[in-house]
Amino acid sequence: MSRHANTVAVVTGAGHGIGRAIAQRLASEGAAIAVAEINEHWGGETVERLRSAGATAHFVRTDITEFGSIQDGFAEAAAALGPITLLVNNAAFTDAGNLAGISLEAWHKEIDVNLNGTYHCIRAILPGMRERGGGAIVNISSVNALRYFGNPSYSAAKAGIINLTQSVASEFGRDGIRCNAICPGSVRTDNITWTIRQQKDPRVFQKLARWYPLGRVGEPEDIAKAVAFLGSDEAAYITGAVLPVDGGLTAGMNVMIDEFILESRND
Ligand SMILES: NC(=O)c1ccc[n+]([C@@H]2O[C@H](COP(=O)([O-])OP(=O)(O)OC[C@H]3O[C@@H](n4cnc5c(N)ncnc54)[C@H](O)[C@@H]3O)[C@@H](O)[C@H]2O)c1
Repeated sequence: MSRHANTVAVVTGAGHGIGRAIAQRLASEGAAIAVAEINEHWGGETVERLRSAGATAHFVRTDITEFGSIQDGFAEAAAALGPITLLVNNAAFTDAGNLAGISLEAWHKEIDVNLNGTYHCIRAILPGMRERGGGAIVNISSVNALRYFGNPSYSAAKAGIINLTQSVASEFGRDGIRCNAICPGSVRTDNITWTIRQQKDPRVFQKLARWYPLGRVGEPEDIAKAVAFLGSDEAAYITGAVLPVDGGLTAGMNVMIDEFILESRND
């Protein structure tokens, strides 16, 4: 597959989980990948995997909370791989929690990494994309942006990403820049939150599956496939879109219907 043969992509947080799967998917479709990651070990591992699969990849150590680090990292990536045509804002952090218990510091940190970090990357990429007449940006938001599923600081940041997506799409469409957001549901990764939840209950993903109309939680590749589409020319007329990739979670409330309203299928 060579849908991304002319793509130079920066994927933030590509050292782990969904970001690594996005990098691998884009690379498998021909893209050159800049792995923009705060964790050097994880980032280096992704680069090794991409290269051993025959792809072109370059690691840039970046902390998305530091605008200068992003500017330097993106400049290094462009020098190594060529002008960046696709930015995937995937890096994120959450410590979970609720409004009653969250500290002021924790609230600020989650807004800073998840919302301000995404803004920093967009701010750094826009001038070059505008100069060259276009590019694509895919922001990884969450179903938490659309409904309350706990974790309010992370959710507020992810909701902010949706409005930011629409702002970029509206202001820079005439520059040939498309910007879309993806809202994943629960995705089977070993990030900190899921690791803690799995330690408490090793069957957490099986139990969650009943909430999903498609009967399972997501896999990182489910998100990667949607990114590869939105980042490609096949999505040339799509911008400002907010795409849930959530197995139907936000479409309805199957469990409530099954247990309380009793009007669902009887099988
Ligand atoms: N896993 C899920 O169930 C799920 C659900 C909805 C949305 N998402 C979103 O998908 C994306 C990936 O999630 P994941 O589960 O793979 O997470 P993860 O924690 O496994 O990976 C996040 C990556 O971002 C990197 N990172 C963190 N802070 C950074 C910083 N300041 N600068 C640069 N890199 C940084 C981490 O080192 C890590 O490699 C995130 O945006 C997350 O919010 C995940």
